[in-house]
Amino acid sequence: MKSVFIGCGAYLPQRSLSNAELAKTVDTSDEWIVARTGISNRHIAADGELTSDLAYNAAVEALAAAGMAATELDLIVLATATPDETFPATATTVQARLGVAGIPAFDVQAVCSGFIYALAVADNFIKAGQARNVLVIGAETFSRILDWEDRTTCVLFGDGAGAVVLRAEATNGDAGTAQRGIMSTHLHADGRHHDMLYVDGGPSSTGTAGFLRMRGKEVFRHAVGNLASVVGEALEANNLDADAIDWLVPHQANQRIIDHTVKKLKLPSEKVVLTVARHGNTSAASVPLALNEAVSDGRIKQGDVILMEAMGGGFTWGAVLARW
Ligand code: COA
Repeated sequence: MKSVFIGCGAYLPQRSLSNAELAKTVDTSDEWIVARTGISNRHIAADGELTSDLAYNAAVEALAAAGMAATELDLIVLATATPDETFPATATTVQARLGVAGIPAFDVQAVCSGFIYALAVADNFIKAGQARNVLVIGAETFSRILDWEDRTTCVLFGDGAGAVVLRAEATNGDAGTAQRGIMSTHLHADGRHHDMLYVDGGPSSTGTAGFLRMRGKEVFRHAVGNLASVVGEALEANNLDADAIDWLVPHQANQRIIDHTVKKLKLPSEKVVLTVARHGNTSAASVPLALNEAVSDGRIKQGDVILMEAMGGGFTWGAVLARW
């Protein structure tokens, strides 16, 4: 069995927040943020708008694009580090709104690598024959865990959601899809680096939600190294050269981190999907948001080879190589 992408969708909260607006509340500037990160704008969820709302909207769009009724799903996996509540899983809230009681639904927590982890989990359910139609969502409201007085972090992140629908196809099937789908997934973590990127709260430690804390320079250095290594691993596992990649869909944390990966792969910049300037870092939502944009505007076409990668707190990192 192969996990074939049959639809995707996304949702961004209506309110956008520019660098110039941010500069009115913290000591920063558009020039500094653009030069160091490539970010110009981010979206911020409205009061009362929850991660599950963003996720639900992206899911509905993905199901419509797939031409699939929610009742055909047999698994929901939702990646988030900003769940509505400590429990239940945000995936179950989305499930209830989709009206598909009974099927398994759970969250995956790997911060910015969450969507890559969730895709790997879904792919393994499909390959094991335990699911046929899977909804995979990445959704975040990082605006709720930012210290809006800390200019070193609050300028970097935004809110959003993206979703894909995967369908099991027999690799020897006659639907013309045998060559499509996820080729391989590659996941890593190294918990020794907890203090470089974490939230200083939680139900078991402080009893509060806490705020995101980061040692930016160290995170940058690790991100560049880990991403270079995992994209190499994904290509090697499939006996492919970087030339085989039609589209790189990277985690949109920072333009300069993406530039390093592009340089390592020697990819022409036209093959890279970029949304970081407009969305900032939306954590687990960033890869599916970028994917959805390039599929919707016709850049990614059926049969294209796409390489997705991400790195996040933990540290966690990973890559998925797939044929769209
Ligand atoms: N506006 C203006 N100045 C700022 C600022 C801001 N928003 N944030 C930090 N600065 C200042 C610092 O205080 C420091 O000032 P000082 O020299 O007077 O002490 C100066 O800018 C340089 O700070 P530094 O942290 O060394 O900058 P940097 O070049 O490392 O860039 C990041 C900072 C955060 C942009 C960069 O480290 C980075 O992108 N890291 C990766 C972050 C990331 O992507 N995390 C998520 C991964 S999933």
